Amino acid sequence: MPADIAPGNVAQLQQTPDSADPVVVFEDVSITFDIKPVLQNISFTVHRGETRIILGPAGGGKSVLMKLANGLIRPDSGTIRVFGEDVTRMRETDLFKLRARIGMVFQESALFDSLSVEDNVAYRLHEDRVPEEEAHKRVVEALQFVELENTIAKFPSELSGGMRRRVSIARAIIAKPDLILYDSPTGGLDPITSTTIIDLVIKQRDVSHTTSLLITHRLQDAFLLARNRFNQQTGKIEPIPNGGIDDRLKEYLS
Ligand SMILES: Nc1ncnc2c1ncn2[C@@H]1O[C@H](COP(=O)(O)OP(=O)(O)O)[C@@H](O)[C@H]1O
Ligand SMILES: [Mg+2]
Repeated sequence: MPADIAPGNVAQLQQTPDSADPVVVFEDVSITFDIKPVLQNISFTVHRGETRIILGPAGGGKSVLMKLANGLIRPDSGTIRVFGEDVTRMRETDLFKLRARIGMVFQESALFDSLSVEDNVAYRLHEDRVPEEEAHKRVVEALQFVELENTIAKFPSELSGGMRRRVSIARAIIAKPDLILYDSPTGGLDPITSTTIIDLVIKQRDVSHTTSLLITHRLQDAFLLARNRFNQQTGKIEPIPNGGIDDRLKEYLS
């Protein structure tokens, strides 16, 4: 992915950061596997409260970028700061604490097949030894958010691809993360199901204002996120007046 398409400008302009302290900063990040350069001099910033979109083709290094962001792999050069800390230099124990603040929505949902929906969604709460009654209450809330509370006792194999993706969103938001990383959340889904997933991302953005980084190959995802908002009164997704285009975006496009 060349640096000049590491954009997200559409989404970035839509929301004004409420703090000058950035949550994610990539500076000149490069990584090569074997002899293949995958990311070259990537720089971008995700501010607090912002939803940043990065577009890239299949095989363009999107998942690699996500793994770099939560310290699962290290770059060959450049710096990556998350919550103000340099993840390229952190010890594994500190990375563990950092990852506890991040909600991750993986490309293939990555649910545990042998666990029920309830246990999948509660996974992090169980790790944190949250009492069962409290964990159950929060699982129900998270599943209500993704409109899947009736699947609580089911297993991943009984769900459609879109439902599994929604369960993985419930799992990512249950611990009220300070940052959500969405790795190709619409990958492998049909266009209609993809829209329902992006609607959830919009709802999460507009209800909780969680700082988010969303990586996708679908330009449509970026347009949906930039042009629509969640109306808390009606509980529905609605178009933002003027197609989400404000004066700053007009300037950028001209
Ligand atoms: N651990 C790895 N070892 C070697 N090559 C890798 C590794 N991870 C990713 N790659 C390569 O990096 C490129 C980008 O992969 P990826 O980030 O998964 O793409 P996508 O944008 O589709 O998510 C691919 O060519 C992939 O084969
Ligand atoms: Mg990928």
